Amino acid sequence: MKIENYPWIKISFVSLCFLLLTPLYHGADTITSSHSLSGDQTIVSAGHIFELGFFQPGSSSNYYIGIWYKQDPGQAVVWVANRDDPISDKQYSELKILNGNLVLTNEFKTPIWFTNSTSTTTKSTEAVIQDDGNLVLRDEHNSTIWQSFDHPTHTWLPSMKLGIDKKTRKVQRLTAWKNKDDPATGLFSLEPDPDGTSQYYLLRNETEEYWSSGTWDAEQQIFTLIPEIRQDFMHNYGYVDNENESYFIYSEKDPSTISRIFVDVCGQIKVEAWLADAQKWNLFWMLPRKQCEVYAYCGAFGICNQNSLPFCNCLRDFEPTSQSDWNLNDYSRGCARKNPLNCGNHTAREVRDGFYPYLNMRLPEHAQSVAAASLEGCQLACLNNCSCTAYAYDGGDRCSIWIGDLLNMTQLSDGDVNGKTLYVKQATSKFSSSNKRMIVGGAVGVIAMVIMVLCLLFIWKQKRKKRTATKTVEGAVIAFRYKDLQNTTKNFSEKLGGGGFGSVFKGTLPDFSIVAVKKLESISQGEKQFRTEISTIGTIQHVNLIRLRGFCSEGARKLLVYDYMPNGSLDNHLFHEKDSEVLNWETRYKIAVGIAKGLTYLHEKCRSCIIHCDIKPENILLDAEFCVKITDFGLAKLVGREFSRVLTTMRGTRGYLAPEWISGVAITAKADVYSYGMMLFELLSGHRNMEQLEDGKVKFFPNWVATKIIKGGEDILSILDDKLKGNGNREEVMKICQVAYWCIQDGENHRPSMGQVVQILEGVLDVSMPPIPRSLQVFLDNQEHILYFTKSSSSQSS
Ligand SMILES: *[C@@H]1O[C@H](CO)[C@@H](O)[C@H](O)[C@H]1NC(C)=O
Ligand SMILES: *[C@@H]1O[C@H](CO)[C@@H](O)[C@H](O)[C@H]1NC(C)=O
Ligand SMILES: *[C@@H]1O[C@H](CO)[C@@H](O)[C@H](O)[C@H]1NC(C)=O
Ligand SMILES: *[C@@H]1O[C@H](CO)[C@@H](O)[C@H](O)[C@H]1NC(C)=O
Ligand SMILES: *[C@@H]1O[C@H](CO)[C@@H](O)[C@H](O)[C@H]1NC(C)=O
Ligand SMILES: *[C@@H]1O[C@H](CO)[C@@H](O)[C@H](O)[C@H]1NC(C)=O
Ligand SMILES: *[C@@H]1O[C@H](CO)[C@@H](O)[C@H](O)[C@H]1NC(C)=O
Repeated sequence: MKIENYPWIKISFVSLCFLLLTPLYHGADTITSSHSLSGDQTIVSAGHIFELGFFQPGSSSNYYIGIWYKQDPGQAVVWVANRDDPISDKQYSELKILNGNLVLTNEFKTPIWFTNSTSTTTKSTEAVIQDDGNLVLRDEHNSTIWQSFDHPTHTWLPSMKLGIDKKTRKVQRLTAWKNKDDPATGLFSLEPDPDGTSQYYLLRNETEEYWSSGTWDAEQQIFTLIPEIRQDFMHNYGYVDNENESYFIYSEKDPSTISRIFVDVCGQIKVEAWLADAQKWNLFWMLPRKQCEVYAYCGAFGICNQNSLPFCNCLRDFEPTSQSDWNLNDYSRGCARKNPLNCGNHTAREVRDGFYPYLNMRLPEHAQSVAAASLEGCQLACLNNCSCTAYAYDGGDRCSIWIGDLLNMTQLSDGDVNGKTLYVKQATSKFSSSNKRMIVGGAVGVIAMVIMVLCLLFIWKQKRKKRTATKTVEGAVIAFRYKDLQNTTKNFSEKLGGGGFGSVFKGTLPDFSIVAVKKLESISQGEKQFRTEISTIGTIQHVNLIRLRGFCSEGARKLLVYDYMPNGSLDNHLFHEKDSEVLNWETRYKIAVGIAKGLTYLHEKCRSCIIHCDIKPENILLDAEFCVKITDFGLAKLVGREFSRVLTTMRGTRGYLAPEWISGVAITAKADVYSYGMMLFELLSGHRNMEQLEDGKVKFFPNWVATKIIKGGEDILSILDDKLKGNGNREEVMKICQVAYWCIQDGENHRPSMGQVVQILEGVLDVSMPPIPRSLQVFLDNQEHILYFTKSSSSQSS
């Protein structure tokens, strides 16, 4: 009998061994030469404070030997032995005493970590985990030959020294984990001043200092730059400096409290205390106080924004160098260009690079001064040097350019006097457009298009020469003059539509591209904030979101210039079919997916989550191929306070508002999910969900669908728009119905995210039968009072 054929025998044998061995270790605090540690075995300090054993951080597949708090179910680790050398199989790895040292061997019996003590006596050495969290190796004379306190990782425990041994020059520093799932030596460390002063520094990558404690004030017992210490009622701090060593140490005022001080993966020192009742860690203070003060936290070409989560975002047209690191909040590798610059590329000689302006920035470091006395001159200086990545002009002859990586950029808040505008070089994306259709379109088409674009470019350049060169910057949001827009739109003569935010007019730019110009009404924001919002909206690029071409802001005149969409908005196709062809089922499904993708981008992929707040068919535009372009995103914030008024006026007539708008609780992205769900019903029916009849009764389509679904969806196709004449895919119709009901659940936690909706519609995720939302249930229970949205009633009303 081969044991491989009966894996359960092996498993039960192994677990039997553990069953036998575990009692021996339960409560023991010592590893001896006859008792090693492997698998799930641990040792626990005498007072049950600390536990040592193998642990597996977060979603990692690796194991490490670590020490953690016994009480904390979250296993807050304070020390890691093999932080840079993980093991993959804890059952066959072993932590044991060997020749007077503590050694960790992996599954191949190879030693991968050891204490490296040079003690001469190797007899009856043992390792003890103490109640202070120190792992101590003692020899037969009971003297310490090694201790983990001499090898700190990222956590500083009471009575652990941080400092310098003046004889060996050995430094005891704290080094953060690489990320929350990887205890490997990270980028940020807390170190004593190598010059011997009593200061401590936070460093990035061992070299760049970004925070200092100030020197120790022995009289007041504080570091001059950490006034927090004075208010720290939990700890006593002390600094010792003698001929052998200098170090910083602390103790707990009340020995029964459990607290820890550590360098977090985000580069901040955090002081936390364990709240036994709540079973959680409570953050007392952290330094530096702001995330964006951590030097180059977002890496090259990343922007740190203290007021948004996540803090880090890539510049426009850049993407994270490593998305997996980025997802673990490790931003150190920064961002990389999506499209290479044309500069220096001889095949792309015809196309020049452009600049994209970032307003309110703390400029990156390593600026170089260049002699230029105007914005144009400064721009030219950067344009003419292919290694130049950005420039900033601050009036007079203050022109700065940057060569290579842009580091340590911070988005400042509106009104910060230090805010400057940074212009970052970017490839013009005329050819590198992500629009695949262009590539598919056959060689002849491509050539024709290239010629056309070159002609347009030529014309555009000619025109540009004549105009003042103040604003037109290719590939960026253009600041238009009101006069120009007046000309563009023939004095606002061709109205395309009106919405909650203002009327829209058709216009033609000098390069002959057709645009939609929106005249905004009731803007409550100041000029600077307006421009900040515009630059945010301008950075958003996605196939399912309308592109902002430019804006105009002259006093109260605020206008936005968008790409023009030849097929208008979805409501025209759904509700006013006279002017246009009926949207077939495939197109409707594609539209449902497109809207979901656009919203996913707004909610999850943007710099800061953007809640649209006004999802309705009027705001879904369709391009020539009936591809979805959502419009009006970001405007809710722009309109600010006034927006609530706009909503109030909408409430009476529209059925897209999630209940939380009325109940007054905080609005999240799930409010958009609700509106999306409501809109799906209209996509199915081709009619408004809710219509008031002349006799005052309300008909509500989602209820009628609910009765069909409850009956098992046999004749689900009968809910479809009459105009489709029953042509629809049964499964897809059912899926849309189910998604719609999930989206309009009363509790926002029960609604899916837009990302999940995309996955469902694309068949990646399955969808289950939704519960009928309670608010609809009320309708259902009172059926006699409700007129369902049926064909007969619809023809009555229209
Ligand atoms: C062990 O100690 C010796 C001398 O003390 C040193 O040369 C060696 O690099 C150390 N090895 C490790 C892995 O720390
Ligand atoms: C060994 O030393 C520790 C502290 O250094 C002490 O608590 C313990 O009692 C000693 N054990 C023996 C057997 O001397
Ligand atoms: C850290 O410094 C090393 C060399 O000093 C360099 O190679 C590495 O790229 C730096 N890492 C980061 C994230 O800056
Ligand atoms: C410094 O080290 C020497 C030799 O190890 C020792 O005699 C002396 O007491 C130490 N000084 C202090 C202040 O601990
Ligand atoms: C990096 O940015 C921070 C905060 O924005 C600033 O305090 C610091 O001086 C900058 N460091 C360098 C080297 O530019
Ligand atoms: C140069 O430009 C062409 C066309 O835009 C592009 O295909 C090529 O990859 C570019 N070469 C480099 C080295 O960037
Ligand atoms: C670009 O500017 C940098 C710094 O001023 C300079 O070292 C480099 O030679 C310039 N390159 C070119 C092609 O002018």
